[in-house]
Amino acid sequence: MTKASRFALPLLVVAAAFFAVLGCTPPPATNPPPPGPGGGPLPQSSGGLKSIMKQIGANKPDALWPQINSELNRDSPPWDDLKPQTDNFAKLAADVGANDPPKGKDTWQQDAKAFADLAAALNAAVAEKDLVKAKDAQNKVHDACDNCHRAHRGRPGG
Ligand code: HEC
Repeated sequence: MTKASRFALPLLVVAAAFFAVLGCTPPPATNPPPPGPGGGPLPQSSGGLKSIMKQIGANKPDALWPQINSELNRDSPPWDDLKPQTDNFAKLAADVGANDPPKGKDTWQQDAKAFADLAAALNAAVAEKDLVKAKDAQNKVHDACDNCHRAHRGRPGG
């Protein structure tokens, strides 16, 4: 065992980290394994339709839309809690159109835009603490979930 061989591995690691920090492509041997089952973590980006939809959520009580719904359904909604949630919801809705749907590409942009506009209207109504407007937007958003899923998801329901 020579001194050189003991230093070789740490040096490689340092070099790889150095390249990674610089944003350069490191040597092929240090590339991460392909994503997927058993192949390492799936890519976690802010984009991706599935990722957006999962954050909006439908069935999980801690997802965004169920939370917004249950708060708006109270007699006196907690506006200050709602605002950051509808902010986030409007941002997510605005990102939908940047993705491709599984089907129905011809009407996709139109439906995505309609959804973004409704989410923005909901956010504005919450900013104004206007319950009538907020409930109206809530109902329209709800219809938009169902309509879009029917047209673009390949199976009915929200
Ligand atoms: C502009 C169209 C559009 C609107 C509006 C829309 N969705 Fe979706 N949603 C989709 C599409 C398309 C998929 C399927 C994505 C895929 O499988 O790649 C989907 C999938 C989902 C999923 C399943 C995600 C997963 O785990 O695979 C949930 C949950 C969901 N949507 C909830 C909602 C809720 C709640 C709303 C309304 C607040 C909503 N969506 C509004 C297009 C839309």
